[in-house]
Amino acid sequence: MTMYNTNILCIGAGYVGGPTMAFIAYKCPHYRVTVVDVNRERIAAWNSDSLPVYEPGLDKVVRTARGRNLFFSTEIEKAIQENDVIFVSVNTPTKTFGVGEGMAADLQYWERTARQILNHSSNSKIVIEKSTLPVKTALAMERILKSNNNGVSFDILSNPEFLAEGTAIADLENPDRVLIGSRDTESGIRARDVLVEIYLNWVPRERILTTNTWSSELSKLVANAFLAQRISSINAVSALCEKTDADIGEVARAVGFDSRIGNRFLNASIGFGGSCFKKDILNLVYLCRTYGLEEVADYWERVVRINEYQKERFVLNMLNAMFNTLAGKRICLLGFAFKADTGDTREAPAIYIAKRLAEEKAEVVITDPKALPNAMLDLNKVTGVTYEIDPYKAAEGCDALAIMTEWGLYKGLDYRTIYDSMTKPAFVFDGRNILDHQHLHEVGFNVFPIGKPALAHF
Ligand SMILES: NC(=O)c1ccc[n+]([C@@H]2O[C@H](COP(=O)([O-])OP(=O)(O)OC[C@H]3O[C@@H](n4cnc5c(N)ncnc54)[C@H](O)[C@@H]3O)[C@@H](O)[C@H]2O)c1
Repeated sequence: MTMYNTNILCIGAGYVGGPTMAFIAYKCPHYRVTVVDVNRERIAAWNSDSLPVYEPGLDKVVRTARGRNLFFSTEIEKAIQENDVIFVSVNTPTKTFGVGEGMAADLQYWERTARQILNHSSNSKIVIEKSTLPVKTALAMERILKSNNNGVSFDILSNPEFLAEGTAIADLENPDRVLIGSRDTESGIRARDVLVEIYLNWVPRERILTTNTWSSELSKLVANAFLAQRISSINAVSALCEKTDADIGEVARAVGFDSRIGNRFLNASIGFGGSCFKKDILNLVYLCRTYGLEEVADYWERVVRINEYQKERFVLNMLNAMFNTLAGKRICLLGFAFKADTGDTREAPAIYIAKRLAEEKAEVVITDPKALPNAMLDLNKVTGVTYEIDPYKAAEGCDALAIMTEWGLYKGLDYRTIYDSMTKPAFVFDGRNILDHQHLHEVGFNVFPIGKPALAHF
């Protein structure tokens, strides 16, 4: 019978690998947890006081465990040799070339990792898919890992991560569920039980779901597709509200009171962002097309299309409200991160909106408490954009404010002072419906929420 030591390795120190492993080390001082990455700067940042990922509560978790039983390193091969339980949390972005371009998952990082594990293992290992992958990826991995006939065996488990950025630590502490997929063989079940034991250190047994490998891989894609679908559904209805004087807040509340529907994730907005929703749905769409399920593929693809439509609709509403020209107007984007409490801007709706405003020859001023460095990278080829950390200074002399991210701090700004410093008529476009629209209107703003009647002075 294979014996494993439960020293844990994670390959990939990104938004998922870093916080997840830091949390396991924090909760389980009896394990030694190592996180490796090819990116030297990232590892250096994990070893510094300025972590590469902003997450509320993460600093404390890392400070407690780092150097005690949590280690960040670039020595991947050595770490593979020394650890028997290996999580793989490398990136799986959308393919940008060849077959499946723009749709399928790019598995080159994942496959490279599998080969590295194969080449540097002299004893049996459990390899755990933490990355989000197309269904049946574990089968391909098994084939790669079994290609060396040297007596070393590998068990592949699927253990997708459901944390949400911005609440990662709370989600890790108290997950709705942990999902573990395995083969239904003796060694598959044994490997699964090793992973169950790790989570049992803090997760109640009834929240740990075990399934076959393929159900687990597919469940992650489907969970993200359902979440994104809810956002696209409410956003689609917000467009109808704007035509009919219905109020999306009232509609969402009335609909959400139905316990079969529930009231969460029903906020109309400029659309979803983040590295996962779009890529995972496109991956699902690609899988459906691969299996000849065109109707199913079309159905899910509409979720992404509505999200694009919502961002463009927001820009067109701005243009329309501001007398059909934005040329030379200063527009302040309040927030740039794809959601509050993160500095991550991957697929942030603000990227598209900033580019479109710049195309209309507006002068765009961007403010965000955590995401300005990423915003500068995202927009480095776009002219007419400036950056300012202080929201009051950012708004000075602007014709309009547009809320891009639901940061709590934007609710508490003194909008009278801001109004006084702006060009008149002054506009607010609330892309997250977080502000007190009545108050803003009283202050003098022309207010354009999403899916609600506008409050204008003309
Ligand atoms: N970001 C999220 O909120 C989230 C949530 C759930 C699941 N996921 C999934 O988790 C996976 C990782 O996402 P992320 O946001 O952490 O990505 P990320 O890009 O932040 O991190 C991935 C890391 O893997 C490293 N890497 C790539 N190839 C490597 C190799 N061969 N050896 C060592 N390191 C390597 C990269 O340098 C990078 O630091 C993806 O599949 C994603 O879909 C992400």
